[in-house]
Amino acid sequence: MKLFELLYSDRVEALHKAAKTDPTKHVKGAGTMAFVYQHNDDHQLDRVERISLSADPHTAFMQFIIDNNVKNPYLPRCFGKSDSNGIVQSTMERLVPFANPNVATVELVRNLCGKWFQYHISHPLETQMDENTTQFECAEYISNIIHDAITSDPDDLIQDPVLLEAIKIIRIVMKSSRSFVADITSENIMWRIAGGVPHLVITDPINTTGAYA
Ligand SMILES: Nc1ncnc2c1ncn2[C@@H]1O[C@H](COP(=O)(O)OP(=O)(O)O)[C@@H](O)[C@H]1O
Ligand SMILES: [Mg+2]
Repeated sequence: MKLFELLYSDRVEALHKAAKTDPTKHVKGAGTMAFVYQHNDDHQLDRVERISLSADPHTAFMQFIIDNNVKNPYLPRCFGKSDSNGIVQSTMERLVPFANPNVATVELVRNLCGKWFQYHISHPLETQMDENTTQFECAEYISNIIHDAITSDPDDLIQDPVLLEAIKIIRIVMKSSRSFVADITSENIMWRIAGGVPHLVITDPINTTGAYA
């Protein structure tokens, strides 16, 4: 049995299946631990509900953000969180997948690289990204660098002090359990599209090596 089959419990799977056929809910995405839906309600277009087991490291990540009143724009905003019998429902801001071709052009990502990363990282990336680069490839490049920054020396890779602070917060949460490991993939970085220019958000940075049912 694969690890994610233990993590994505039968109870979460049952709720996911029910949400997919519920006309009041619009499922936006699902990963190995959680699914995310939006209420079909015009007043809630800016937010989504994320459902997972409370043992999902995302719970500790959100709790840290709530407890410390973190307002870092590179981290997701949480409007509320409830835990019922080990199932956590977090109300979060609605974000858009990084690889969504309608959101950020490769040109925009190239420009942002110079803001986010130290020159020795951004310069080769800017050279590598051209009109043939896909948004998915951009997401892979950017998520790999953020993963490296979390697991090695963030000061050496990151230039933007606000992104650096976000990465240091993730590193603090990771230290709260020996089973937590960094998990920055192309699907765990997203865009906030409120306002003018899309803004990078690291949504789901931590996985666990521990199995739980
Ligand atoms: N805030 C959000 N707004 C819209 N969709 C989201 C949001 N957060 C996550 N998603 C979608 O749901 C998927 C699963 O969420 P995620 O938090 O990454 O859980 P998992 O631990 O299962 O990977 C994401 O890959 C993404 O497609
Ligand atoms: Mg994920």
